[in-house]
Formats: sequence, C-alpha cells, structure tokens
Amino acid sequence: MTSETNFLQSVLITGCSSGGIGSALAETFHERGLHVFATARSMSKMAHLEKLPNVTLLELDVTDSKSIESAVEVVTAKTGGKLNYLINNSGQSLVMPALDTNIEDAKKLFDVNLWGMVAVTQTFSPLIIATKGTIVNVASLATFFRSPWLAFYNASKAAVDAYGHTLRLELAPFGVKVVTVTAGTVQTNIFRPVEEVPLPPDSMYKAASKEMAGIANGRFVQGSMAPAEFAKRVVDDVLSGATGMIWRGTMATIARIMYTILPTWVMDRLTFPGSGLDKLS
Ligand SMILES: NC(=O)c1ccc[n+]([C@@H]2O[C@H](COP(=O)([O-])OP(=O)(O)OC[C@H]3O[C@@H](n4cnc5c(N)ncnc54)[C@H](OP(=O)(O)O)[C@@H]3O)[C@@H](O)[C@H]2O)c1
Repeated sequence: MTSETNFLQSVLITGCSSGGIGSALAETFHERGLHVFATARSMSKMAHLEKLPNVTLLELDVTDSKSIESAVEVVTAKTGGKLNYLINNSGQSLVMPALDTNIEDAKKLFDVNLWGMVAVTQTFSPLIIATKGTIVNVASLATFFRSPWLAFYNASKAAVDAYGHTLRLELAPFGVKVVTVTAGTVQTNIFRPVEEVPLPPDSMYKAASKEMAGIANGRFVQGSMAPAEFAKRVVDDVLSGATGMIWRGTMATIARIMYTILPTWVMDRLTFPGSGLDKLS
C-alpha cells in the first residue's frame, strides 16, 4: 500500500490538548521531521496544531474502544500499517484522601491512566511491531514519591510503571522498545484552579483541606519546567534509542538519587512538608 506519510517516520501521541505535555511533544516531534498523529478527546483543544504540515489531528478518547478503533483505521490507511513511535501520554489527577475517595471516581481515573493506555497499546501494537518501533508511557515521580491526597493517582502511575517494564520484556523479542518516562513536575493544565477539595461532611481530614487544594492548584509546581523544555529532553531520549526508564522534568534527577539512597522516613520528612498532615495529630 502506498503511504500518505511520504516515508517520514511517524508518531502517535495521546492527550495533545493545548498547554499540556502531549501538545509539546507533538510540536517537538514535528520539528524533528516526523509525521505526527496528534490526538485528544476534543478536537477543539488541538486547534493550535491544525496548520502544521505533516500533522494529522484525530479524536481519540482512550476510554472508548470505538474511538481507538477509528484512530487505528485512519493511521493504518495513512501509513500502510506502520507506526514508529506510540506515546501514551493521556492522564488525569485526583486529589482526595484515600479513605474519602469514591471508588467509582478512582476506577474512572484508572480507566484513563492505566486501562486506556493498555487498550491503545494493544490496538496499535501491530503497527509498532511492523517497524520494530518504540512505545513511550508517561508515568510520574508519583510512582516513587507517594504524596498524601493523591493515593489513586500514585497507584495508577505505579501500575503504569509495572505494566511498562513488563511490556518491555515481552516486546523485546520482537525488536520493540518500551520507555517509561518518570516525569517530574511540568507546568500544565493537570493543575487546575480549585477553591477547595470537596470532602465528605464527616471527613476526618478537614483540617488539611487548604493544603489539598494547594496540591490540586499546583502550588508545588511554581517555577517548574515548561512543557516545551520537557518535551525536548524526552524527544532527544526517544529518538536516540532510549529504552527502559528515563527521568525527566523538575526534581526528577534529584528525586532519583534521593529515592535510591534515603530511607523512607527521611524521604517523608523532606518531600511532604506543607501537606497538612501535621494539622491532624
Ligand atoms: N504536569 C506534571 O507535572 C506531570 C508530572 C508527572 C506526570 N505527568 C503526566 O503527564 C501526562 C500529561 O499530563 P499533563 O501534565 O500534560 O496534563 P494535561 O495538560 O491535563 O494533559 C492531559 C491530557 O490527557 C487528556 N485526557 C484526559 N482524559 C482522557 C481520555 N479519556 N482520553 C484521551 N485523553 C484524555 C487530557 O484531555 P482533556 O484536555 O480533554 O482533559 C489532556 O489532553 C499525564 O499522564 C500526567 O499524569 C504530568
């Protein structure tokens, strides 16, 4: 089949809404000369990418199997069934004490952060295997630094980490690389302005509600890495043939060292001041 992508290498990225990591990755891969399939669950959030040559915009909700199937059909038709890079970037956050979390909300988070990634990977894997390509999963420092009030986000990213490393072993015999990006903080829309976290009336964590809102607002990310800088480093790694784990973003390198050498109680003291836990005892 003749490819419409003119023999360029190709990459598909999930979650490319304006202002986020996915959008910055799309722009950076485009600058490096790849054909980019930029996807998001809402096309209107990718309007800023519309005019770029060699960028195809596709609607893709990672929790909707029909949406994933439609996307793979378009990519297959345009590339002749080949994709060099798949970037599983979509993700959501959930700030709430573990004991107060509605289980349905936690399941929805896992539907995006873990199961969506699994579904997209399974559907696109034949195209990646066809090129001996690379799958990149965006995980988080949350895998290792489990901030209070983010129990299910932390758990979903730990699951992404375990899934990615296992997949790496299982795809190695087919020449496919799998990269897990342990991302430090990046200034994006994942941090949203909220006045307060809606705790249940009988919550025993009310005294820390201000600090919880601070986490949702991204109080800790002020001055952290811009998406474009983060994307440049990750794309450099990926195009240089990285496999396994890479640590990128603000605090990623120091966090890696701390995680390796410090005992848990020291890590807790150093990393979670201002969480509001001290107000509860
Ligand atoms: N920013 C950080 O400091 C940081 C740190 C570590 C890891 N990460 C990870 O980096 C990734 C990108 O996040 P970001 O910081 O760039 O946040 P973001 O700006 O909120 O981007 C998240 C993207 O995921 C999309 N998404 C949410 N639900 C989806 C679904 N059902 N189907 C398809 N896409 C969906 C969002 O779409 P909508 O715009 O429609 O919601 C958005 O495009 C996430 O996996 C996040 O966990 C971020």
